[in-house]
Amino acid sequence: MTHATYVTLEGVSLHLPDGRPLFTQLDLQLDQPRMALVGRNGVGKSLLARLIAGAILPTTGRCLRAGSVYYLGQYMTEEPGCTVADLLRVKPVVQALERMEQGHYSPLDLDLIGDQWMLREHLLNALANAHLSHLTLNTPVASLSGGEAMRVALLGAFASKADLLILDEPTNHLDGCHRQLLSEQLDKWPKAVLVISHDRVLLESMQCIIELSSQGLIRYSGGYSSYAQAKDLQQKRAQQRLERAKVEQKREAQALRAQRENLERKQARGQKQASDSNQANILLGRQKQRSQLTHGKVLKQQDATHQTLATQVKAAALGVEEPHSIFIQPARTRSNAPVRSA
Ligand SMILES: Nc1ncnc2c1ncn2[C@@H]1O[C@H](COP(=O)(O)OP(=O)(O)O)[C@@H](O)[C@H]1O
Ligand SMILES: [Mg+2]
Repeated sequence: MTHATYVTLEGVSLHLPDGRPLFTQLDLQLDQPRMALVGRNGVGKSLLARLIAGAILPTTGRCLRAGSVYYLGQYMTEEPGCTVADLLRVKPVVQALERMEQGHYSPLDLDLIGDQWMLREHLLNALANAHLSHLTLNTPVASLSGGEAMRVALLGAFASKADLLILDEPTNHLDGCHRQLLSEQLDKWPKAVLVISHDRVLLESMQCIIELSSQGLIRYSGGYSSYAQAKDLQQKRAQQRLERAKVEQKREAQALRAQRENLERKQARGQKQASDSNQANILLGRQKQRSQLTHGKVLKQQDATHQTLATQVKAAALGVEEPHSIFIQPARTRSNAPVRSA
């Protein structure tokens, strides 16, 4: 089944301010309604998400968007004076509505409001439906717990009508019940979503899982179980490659040792025969020199072979990682701490 392509990345690279390349030459099409992005902490998922959303530009390459993208970041705003309206990203429209109510007419405000005359009522309704009726649009974000702030921010994301939602670690502050609610909301969401998460339950409902690693992007079809199966197979193959490389290294080392010993025996025999046959000193010296040269050459070749094999073992070992290590997370905790102090 083919879907619309929401975002296309072409040869995208991103360098950090210190010049370090975070990722290079990424190509990707976001073309399914339910997608996830996974990878080890620090690998660059959040920066890639911000790049897809247009919040930052790639160092090279380009990112093409077919519609609007709403990026809900991993960390809530800590700006002083931030309110629920900021978390919902509706403050400019709310302020325009307030100015109109106070009799300050402006065409700019009229444009800003568009058809959203009932926006505040809709949002207060939505807050009440989400069991957040104790909040108003002016409630300071600093007074909310991490879970409340995430629930409000999610509400704003789902109210946005964006073509593609990017939710960055949305379940981190949510308890089991609200994680379940989020899954249900995602099931009902009529547009596309890219979720960055380590939550296996959430990942299970995805149509594809895209993994970001130092090797770039790899796309796996299906949800978490299919991903885990593919990773298991990859691991088994990598483990087999490592075993084969180690066996080869051992076998070669034995062959090289035998070659060296053989050469040394031959040298000793040659020298003994030469001195027994009373050869002139000058001839003896030349023979010794020749033999040392051959010995040196063989040792050099052996050294190179040793190094090649060690590099092969090292490369094979790099392919072997802890199974699903990116999913080993601290136990889920319910966060009730205010956002600012979290
Ligand atoms: N604004 C920034 N300036 C410099 N380095 C940054 C900035 N943001 C993130 N980084 C670095 O970029 C890397 C990737 O960060 P991030 O995208 O947050 O990773 P992830 O979301 O996969 O955990 C990390 O090493 C982080 O320290
Ligand atoms: Mg992140």
